[in-house]
Amino acid sequence: MSFDNSKRSDFGPHFTWGVSSSALQSEGAHNTDGKGPTIWDEFSDKQQVKNKDTHYQSGLFYEHYKKDIDLIKSLYIPNFRFSISWSRILPEGTGAINERGIQFYHNIIDYCLVQGIEPWVTLYHWDLPLMLEKKGGWTNREILNWFQEYVQVCCQYFGHKVKYWMVLNEPLVFTGAGYFAGVHAPSKKGLKNFLPAAHHAVLAQALGFKIIKKEFPSAQVGTTFSCSHLTAQSNKEIHILATKRIDTLLNRMFVEPSLGLGYPIADLPVLAKINKYMLPGDEELMKVDFDFIGLQVYTREVIKYNFFTPFLKAKIVPASKRKVHHTKMDWEVFPDSIYEVVKKFSQYQNVKKIIITENGASFHDELVGGAIADHQRVNYLKKHIEKLAHAQKDFPKLQGYFVWSLTDNFEWAEGYEQRFGLIYIDYETLQRTVKDSGYWYSNFLNQLKQE
Ligand code: GAL
Repeated sequence: MSFDNSKRSDFGPHFTWGVSSSALQSEGAHNTDGKGPTIWDEFSDKQQVKNKDTHYQSGLFYEHYKKDIDLIKSLYIPNFRFSISWSRILPEGTGAINERGIQFYHNIIDYCLVQGIEPWVTLYHWDLPLMLEKKGGWTNREILNWFQEYVQVCCQYFGHKVKYWMVLNEPLVFTGAGYFAGVHAPSKKGLKNFLPAAHHAVLAQALGFKIIKKEFPSAQVGTTFSCSHLTAQSNKEIHILATKRIDTLLNRMFVEPSLGLGYPIADLPVLAKINKYMLPGDEELMKVDFDFIGLQVYTREVIKYNFFTPFLKAKIVPASKRKVHHTKMDWEVFPDSIYEVVKKFSQYQNVKKIIITENGASFHDELVGGAIADHQRVNYLKKHIEKLAHAQKDFPKLQGYFVWSLTDNFEWAEGYEQRFGLIYIDYETLQRTVKDSGYWYSNFLNQLKQE
């Protein structure tokens, strides 16, 4: 059976279609109306972002949210995933509530609902309040209390109108890049930071879930994981074993404890050191019966053995070195990855439902005559959605797909050079221009109505 030129109707009427964004990457207004600083403010101030960019302006969603939500509606996108900025509503992370921050998220949620767009809310998309980082951030077990307080506040104010929640965005990336490699905020390094941060993130994703479900049993609560299909560089056993270790870290370490399988220590023995941070009862506390899991898939990785990489003894072979078609991030364009990843996660018995909460691509965009002819992004989305159709046929747990991202935005340590949006932003004028990929997605979604 061919899935070429898949149509929306192939997925049935209940499949969820959407577009994603995050607070820090798109809101701007970093110190407006009582907002407290985040770890990314410090990271930006220390000029650690490419081209010395900062997230301080971005597309200024804070002021332009109505315009952006109008665009979502005009493109027929029925679901909008965005995140709440912790320090906008609790400027110091705990304690005093900033009512103006609360009002901002009421405004977004209400405006979505009025426009018939379903809000999907991520509670933590990497923007830790700076005050909490000063007390150790994710490495300090106190984060569990701080986080629970924050989730309670979100529930109290927004729980009666938000049905879909994601507790964390990609715990591997914020702990790995932020607390092991030091390439993201808060620039901490090494296992002594990574392992406690990771363990606390695993506990936090479970605790956050439990708080929302207790208050709102009918809410649909999940969390999101970054994941990639992996291929060994060759059939040599040394590369195959290296691939297994990377798979354990990238694809398994954060989901398996929540499914009651514990940390996958047997396949990555260095993870045994995480036991140092486990308290009695944690094994139980980590378990959680998510309503869905979000998978964020962009590419596949090719892995080879490498003696010099500490602990992992393995490394990723960059796409450009392999001379394969890749995006501006140097991520291989490999649509089969989305099929393979859904297949892999479907096999976990306790995973009930899978939503692709991010998929998209950064390419060089040029505004010519008021339009962006981003053929490569159109092709990327088209090919990925074809594979998605195939995946849905074979794995019915797959029930949704969100494009990353709504507009161009601040791509973390890469700054503004990388553009993932369906909508182009001119950062001088803040003018929005729907790219051809935005129109393509819109036509794809609107097919159902025409039939
Ligand atoms: C994800 C992340 C997003 C976005 C995207 C593209 O890992 O959740 O915030 O940056 O990657 O790199």
